[in-house]
Amino acid sequence: MEVVICKTKQEASKLAAEMVSAAVLNNPKIVLGLATGSTPVLLYKEMAKIAKATKVSYKQAKSWNLDEYVGLAGTHEQSYRRFMNENLFSHIDIQIKNTHVLNGLAKNLERECAAYEKQIKAAGGIDLQVLGIGSDGHIAFNEPGSSLKSRTRCVYLTPSTIKDNARLFFKGKESEVPTRALSMGVGTIVEAKKIILLAFGKGKADAVKGCVEGPVTQFCTASALQEHNDCWIFCDEESASKLKLKKYYAWRSATILGL
Ligand code: PGA
Repeated sequence: MEVVICKTKQEASKLAAEMVSAAVLNNPKIVLGLATGSTPVLLYKEMAKIAKATKVSYKQAKSWNLDEYVGLAGTHEQSYRRFMNENLFSHIDIQIKNTHVLNGLAKNLERECAAYEKQIKAAGGIDLQVLGIGSDGHIAFNEPGSSLKSRTRCVYLTPSTIKDNARLFFKGKESEVPTRALSMGVGTIVEAKKIILLAFGKGKADAVKGCVEGPVTQFCTASALQEHNDCWIFCDEESASKLKLKKYYAWRSATILGL
């Protein structure tokens, strides 16, 4: 696990975008795993900026998103399908038919999740997975208590996630946040060949501490990433503030990245 600590989220997002863009340039048929939430918004802006200014093209790329709320149509203002279309897909040359988001309106949720797993496998697996982290240490919607071997399935959101997401996306109305979601499992996520996790702000400091330096436990599902051999954690100074070895991580990653 490499922890990159930048002064600001702008700086961290730019560096992460350069890493994603280099991977796309190197493998135009890349299979991306993508995340939603407030955290990757700047990353997606930077990826689009780089694609416009360079030869980086997503024409042959494919993507699978981490999760979607149960009960929301892809056209719903707060659906993750809509988020992706607005924040990334409409700004790069990826073909919409090659982008995949779980269907929160599927009649048979179990079948939807099993089919999603099959699709990812058939595509050769995720080459590069983008992640955020919840204030409770979740990745995708793998809340505390999720098995670290879990696969894509229907999950129940914790009150803290409902609160976090209401604040950001549902005009503060907790009652409007769906209580269930379809989510890739921790076991699905850690199979990605490369992982980039972004975390910003002091509200994520405990989660980052648990992810990087805590025990590997179901109670902070991001901690499973400690066992991945190509995982990059991009932090700002606030989210990295509780890390015991932060000076060492900052020096090591800057040396590796040639910063
Ligand atoms: P956020 O959510 O980016 O909106 O903070 C992250 C997450 O819950 O994974």
